[in-house]
Amino acid sequence: MNTTRAGNGTSNGHARTNGHGRPWPAPGIGDTAYPVIDHTYDVVVVGAGGSGLRATLGCVENGLKTACISKVFPTRSHTVAAQGGISAALGNMGEDDWRWHMYDTVKGSDWLGDQDAIEYMCREAIPAVHELEHLGVPFSRTDRGTIYQRPFGGHMKNFGEAPVQRACAAADRTGHAILHTLYQQSLKHKAEFFIEFFALDLIMDDEGACRGVVAWNLDDGAIHVFKAHMVILATGGYGRAYFSCTSAHTCTGDGNGMVARAGLPLQDMEFVQFHPTGIFPAGCLITEGARGEGGYLTNKDGERFMERYAPNAKDLASRDVVSRAMTVEMREGRGSGRNADHIDLHLEHLGPDVLHERLPGITETAQVFSGVDATRDPVPVLPTVHYNMGGIPTNYRGEVLRPTTDDPDAVCPGLMAVGECASVSVHGANRLGTNSLLDIVVFGRAAALRAAELITPFAKHPPLPRGATAEAFKRFERRRTANGGEPSSRVRLAMQRAMQEDAAVFRTAETLAAGRQRVDAINDTMRDVRISDRSRIWNSDLVEALELDNLLACARATVHSAEARTETRGAHAREDHPDRDDDRWMKHSLAWVDPNGDTRITYRPVHSHTLTDAVDYIPPKARVY
Ligand code: FUM
Repeated sequence: MNTTRAGNGTSNGHARTNGHGRPWPAPGIGDTAYPVIDHTYDVVVVGAGGSGLRATLGCVENGLKTACISKVFPTRSHTVAAQGGISAALGNMGEDDWRWHMYDTVKGSDWLGDQDAIEYMCREAIPAVHELEHLGVPFSRTDRGTIYQRPFGGHMKNFGEAPVQRACAAADRTGHAILHTLYQQSLKHKAEFFIEFFALDLIMDDEGACRGVVAWNLDDGAIHVFKAHMVILATGGYGRAYFSCTSAHTCTGDGNGMVARAGLPLQDMEFVQFHPTGIFPAGCLITEGARGEGGYLTNKDGERFMERYAPNAKDLASRDVVSRAMTVEMREGRGSGRNADHIDLHLEHLGPDVLHERLPGITETAQVFSGVDATRDPVPVLPTVHYNMGGIPTNYRGEVLRPTTDDPDAVCPGLMAVGECASVSVHGANRLGTNSLLDIVVFGRAAALRAAELITPFAKHPPLPRGATAEAFKRFERRRTANGGEPSSRVRLAMQRAMQEDAAVFRTAETLAAGRQRVDAINDTMRDVRISDRSRIWNSDLVEALELDNLLACARATVHSAEARTETRGAHAREDHPDRDDDRWMKHSLAWVDPNGDTRITYRPVHSHTLTDAVDYIPPKARVY
């Protein structure tokens, strides 16, 4: 193997060994003649969305030599698409309290969230938003100059009594504002970025600790081996396992796939959130902030049907509740349009000034994607896959768990996960809107603080065990040279259709068994995948096949966990088991996915304790809005 050390780099600090844009010679199968470039860092963050950038910023601020690698340019990460706000009980627009926020989050999670982590997040929300303000996020303002806050689904005052204004907003482009600010701050603090690098696999040692990551430079095709004392995965969700989702095309569960291949479990993967207002038919997001500003839903008869399903919170009930209600209306023939296949979102009564000032982005989205002028006509919407509550299990400090029977909270050394790829678990069975932007900054920061406790800056790296990267190289070669009969696009479409049909808003034993069989069989077809134009090593078809490996690991974990959970909780609505069953099911599922073999499901307990004495454990009760 021809190994070239970093240091002969370009102006952005990246080593190149092959000349910009020049094709590699096409190696034959098993040929490893192309250069491999080694790096050593204290910390490597994989992903440059909000959580990855907040972790990166925290690590460099703490003097750790930190690299952030990202498959897209950082400001194109999916955080850019977050619209309505970031929650924090600032109380700028009426009384609020972080304990009410905690109560709402526990209730929203349908008591599957870990209350120590939820306490941490809701308490830290207030300084986290003030920190963002000081870093330069251009929040919208009240007349008094304080941060503007709007109502959002499931956010209530006084332990569930009435809606509260808690979502701190930068118009309807809050994620965009946060992402750009965090990238600017990371550059200011001299974080090193490896942009358009695709992470292939974790480097694990014989004791089961993570020692780094292998990545592929999409620009020139070189393979880079990053040794690190800590790898922080911040790779986002896997919405693209479904046919219709609000997620970017890049949301392919890459960190989850790497973790599964490293023999670690994925937690609570059956809980997939459908956002009530994906635009019909494209699926792009229309923010819940639209209902926060006074928008409402009607069926074909013009009825405000949410009054029947959630008499108190109505259109601002939790997302799972609204998505189910909309689905029932459509199933029972009360959907709008010729095919009764969507619901109407009314904004026209808000007037052009409010739409222009508070919701400019979605007014444009409605025009572009459904040809509707939202100042005059209702916007057609339907529930669309939006968020993965499940992911890589971590504690509230971002450390990845490798649960054992003796210790369900045992930690995998050298590995952290933050953001949507992680399951901390603060969202449990259903996430409240605006708690995702909060999650990414609070736990991105927490991971950096923990990394700074664990790592002495610039400490020497012991050599990697022999063969530690061999499996990653073998897998890459297998895909790169794949010459079977199945284009990856066909496999991906089959998976997306199976997930959309069989692991939907409502589920039964039959649909989930069918989904499990379909997805497992589709996974098998990857053995016969074909990569087009195998002479070019930076080929986009190869990227998509590698992403598909990751998506399939997530899809398998989802259908297997969902079939096993015979209750209804949060976003997991089993028509054949319509009630929540705390005695049997108040526990996290762990899916152990073997890429070439079986998927095994085990469980670990939900944390039924708080972090401090400031709050008491909130015992389970019926969840009504
Ligand atoms: O509706 C929205 O603006 C989405 C927010 C979120 O998912 O947190």
